[in-house]
Amino acid sequence: MNKKQAYKQLLEFAKQTAGNSYSPYSKFAVGAAVLCENNKVFCGTNVENASYGLSMCAERVAVFTAVANGCKKIKAIAIYSEKGNVTPCGACRQVLSEFSKTADVVYNTGKNSFKTVKISSLLPKSFSGKTLKK
Ligand code: THU
Repeated sequence: MNKKQAYKQLLEFAKQTAGNSYSPYSKFAVGAAVLCENNKVFCGTNVENASYGLSMCAERVAVFTAVANGCKKIKAIAIYSEKGNVTPCGACRQVLSEFSKTADVVYNTGKNSFKTVKISSLLPKSFSGKTLKK
């Protein structure tokens, strides 16, 4: 399977997971699927709360699920929304940068089209854990 096919499949996982979104407040369902270095895939969806600030994005749910399952190296993340053109928010960009500076961020631009961009170009000069080391 080539990269384009793999990313199309990853977006399909993200789309399926968007179907599980809990977003009664925004009514904006998002699904994400993380492809790890060992080729395992972990999914996430946005989970909102009546206390709005407690809501969590699909991307972070997917990344945290990957880590909870032993995968800390991310090759790519796919993001699906019905409208398309959803790229990760600033907080999710920082979280993704923790686990890869080179990961591809794949997002649908319509029903059957997608684009790919590097996380490093979405968040150049991300804050790095290296800065904390003495
Ligand atoms: N949301 C995501 O899950 N990912 C994004 O990249 C953008 C926004 C969610 C948060 C909230 O539940 C809803 O979409 C509207 O902002």
